[in-house]
Amino acid sequence: MLTNDQLDKWDRENFLHPSTHLAQHARGESPNRIVTGGSGVYIEDRDGNRLLDAFAGLYCVNVGYGRTEIAEAIAAQAKELAYYHAYVGHATEASITLAKMILDRAPKNMSKVYFGLGGSDANETNVKLIWYYNNILGRPEKKKIISRWRGYHGSGLMTGSLTGLELFHKKFDLPLAQVIHTEAPYYYRRPDAAMSEADFSVHCAAELEKLIEREGADTIAAFIGEPVLGTGGIVPPPAGYWDAIQKVLRKHDILLIADEVVTGFGRLGTMFGSDHYGIEADIITIAKGLTSAYAPLSGSIVSDKVWKVLEQGTDENGAIGHGWTYSAHPIGAAAGVANLKLIDELGLVENAGKTGAYFLKAMREALGGHVHVGEVRGEGMLCAIEFVEDRDERRLFDPAKKIGPQVAAALLKQGVIGRAMPQGDILGFAPPLCLTPEEADKVVAAVKEAVKGVLG
Ligand SMILES: Cc1ncc(COP(=O)(O)O)c(C=O)c1O
Repeated sequence: MLTNDQLDKWDRENFLHPSTHLAQHARGESPNRIVTGGSGVYIEDRDGNRLLDAFAGLYCVNVGYGRTEIAEAIAAQAKELAYYHAYVGHATEASITLAKMILDRAPKNMSKVYFGLGGSDANETNVKLIWYYNNILGRPEKKKIISRWRGYHGSGLMTGSLTGLELFHKKFDLPLAQVIHTEAPYYYRRPDAAMSEADFSVHCAAELEKLIEREGADTIAAFIGEPVLGTGGIVPPPAGYWDAIQKVLRKHDILLIADEVVTGFGRLGTMFGSDHYGIEADIITIAKGLTSAYAPLSGSIVSDKVWKVLEQGTDENGAIGHGWTYSAHPIGAAAGVANLKLIDELGLVENAGKTGAYFLKAMREALGGHVHVGEVRGEGMLCAIEFVEDRDERRLFDPAKKIGPQVAAALLKQGVIGRAMPQGDILGFAPPLCLTPEEADKVVAAVKEAVKGVLG
């Protein structure tokens, strides 16, 4: 229960929000929502609304809201030892246990985990480790990072550069020069409608190779990609994509970072997206689902191949000059241990695959035939609807019409949260992994109503 009735006023006067139209918010022209509670797939706000959160916050509350097991683990850790750092070999029972639990679940070629706080800082760490790696190997020119248009890797200086969305570059002097972008694996937006998925994967790999040849393989350190494009539109890769891309990377001795901030810990119905698509990464980024966002924590899981060079580097140069005060924070680590246990106990990885498939099928049946729905796509517990003016020509709506945000707003009126993705008229869903078929039905029915209200 909220006791302060000035919260709305204080919010607009004092709070600079992330990813928000700042001026409209400060002037009180856009709605705010003060969230007061949550249970299962629902959140509640101070106006008494109970909303089915079909985006799990920002695709992060994977076990659902209100899990007392995690809250109690956090409280117990805070009482026993709220903080100690992890520098110069320090650790806590929680951080050591969590590192082992992560490696037990990670692909076999992985060796160690470095802990950060969020996905952005984890990807910053990854780039630094890779630059260090190439310096130790005597390849100081091999530093550029290739990312994909529509990829999302964070909003720091380097990670905002890796992100391939205009909104995150414009007016920020990004991308930085060390970052280059290649074609998005976005089959629906393929250049030639006659291309099969397999053809399009070959095309993406050929585009990548052309870029590498143009820049020079000896200047390129790594390629970063999400197993399924997330914020860029929730786009599963076309058939054969990851095999084709990995072939090119291996040929040119370019490392692969699998950004599993969204896909890690079950979202695709497998523990990692790498397992799902046969990706053999050199570094895996984790965050969100690691603690289900009950506390901030991220990680960079490094492979044996990278680890060996880091060992060599510190033997030659002394301790590694990289770390955050809150690396491996005990409260985050305790949340992570309790969260991973809960994922196993509740069978959430399996449920993400099963109920996710049910959800996608139901959404396709309900909306796949609508004249303004170009595509309903998804994988595991990820789903998206792309709206178009003309289906046959795959022609976009005028962005000024803001069709995606309009449908999301109409959906909210039905008591369901979906996300208008930032680029294109795409409505995204990433529910908690505990979603039931009945809850999936509720979401689909609400979406059908919302689409009817906006697009007829
Ligand atoms: C794939 C991916 N990587 C990195 C990030 C950045 O994580 P954070 O917002 O915790 O910095 C996100 C956030 O949505 C993400 O989806």
